[in-house]
Amino acid sequence: MSNYWAEWLRIYDTDHFTLSRKQGWDRFVNSAPREEFATLSRTQMGRLSKDERRDYNEARMVWNANLPTVRTSQLAHANSIIDMVLASARRDGDKLRGSVVIDAEPGLGKTTIATRYGRAFHRDQHRRYGTETPEGHQFLPVAFIPIAAQTTLKGLNQRLLNFYGHPAAKTATKDRLAVHLVDVVGSCQTRLIIIDDIHFVDFRNRNGTEMSNHLKWLANELPVTFVFAGVDLEQKRFFDEGLTGEEAVLAQTARRATRVQVAPFSIASDAGMTAWIAILRAFGTHLKLADGDGEMLVPLAHEIHRRTQGRVASLTNMLDRASYLAIRSGTERITDDVLAKVRVDNAGENGARRL
Ligand SMILES: Nc1ncnc2c1ncn2[C@@H]1O[C@H](COP(=O)(O)OP(=O)(O)OP(=O)(O)O)[C@@H](O)[C@H]1O
Ligand SMILES: [Mg+2]
Repeated sequence: MSNYWAEWLRIYDTDHFTLSRKQGWDRFVNSAPREEFATLSRTQMGRLSKDERRDYNEARMVWNANLPTVRTSQLAHANSIIDMVLASARRDGDKLRGSVVIDAEPGLGKTTIATRYGRAFHRDQHRRYGTETPEGHQFLPVAFIPIAAQTTLKGLNQRLLNFYGHPAAKTATKDRLAVHLVDVVGSCQTRLIIIDDIHFVDFRNRNGTEMSNHLKWLANELPVTFVFAGVDLEQKRFFDEGLTGEEAVLAQTARRATRVQVAPFSIASDAGMTAWIAILRAFGTHLKLADGDGEMLVPLAHEIHRRTQGRVASLTNMLDRASYLAIRSGTERITDDVLAKVRVDNAGENGARRL
């Protein structure tokens, strides 16, 4: 069995996806799930040499740090709304399509919802229509771009063109960029454009108003459904385009966009507790610990909720770290003691202190 785990590690390195370019997005869309390997018992681990043991631990830390995406009720709810909005995307090209806005606080799974939806949609379209358009262009049903701080209108168009690897992205003027964009989206027959972290645009100032008008223009020009994701978008006046008072009523975005909220897990009701336990079971089953199992986290449900406030990002952080500690300390199971030693993100720690 010598070198077995070292072999593993070579193919088992963490994947680096750059989703904001078509090659990276394509890899993400078509990547097979990580191949699973056996979880060793304590006796089996005892038979490993020192190096094998280290390699095995490294391989399972990679495994444990990549928890599966769980079909939570939040995710299912968001999917059903995107599906519904896309249903009207079957309108003819001259008619306006709606957009979806995933609006929630940090760390609740917005990006996960958007990218997983995009992946499923992309695969489905390729299965149905093949990977080339009738004109022989690459068929790219989905484009994904995250926005960075202080993105201007020009920057947005450049990022979109960059996704397609369009050579004009760097050199074209502002007006030409928009023309190229309409062109490339048309020839690649893109149907869904996901723009993540749109909260980086401040819709209350001039740049924001310009951006808002541009997004409306794109929605008019392109036969595409937009999915936006970001933090506190309603407060940031994404929907009313930065307009206030009576003028806000005139904002077209509010009439065209469907808002999807994502809530943290709440254990106040029985149904909420059931959903929380379900995700803990799913994660517990996934983790590779000699004495761990799907039930390991269930008795810790209240404590884990207190520490993470039911936020999925804090939860995944906590579990990576807890399983690391369980391996290092040799407990090989996540227990009260292990949890007590884990530090989670700052917001989670502060939230737990308040409770
Ligand atoms: N349905 C899910 N199942 C499993 N893990 C999830 C799920 N949703 C989110 N996560 C995990 O939670 C973490 C945060 O998720 P994500 O990045 O999607 O949140 P976000 O709302 O986009 O955060 P931010 O506001 O920081 O952009 C990630 O590690 C992700 O893998
Ligand atoms: Mg995100």
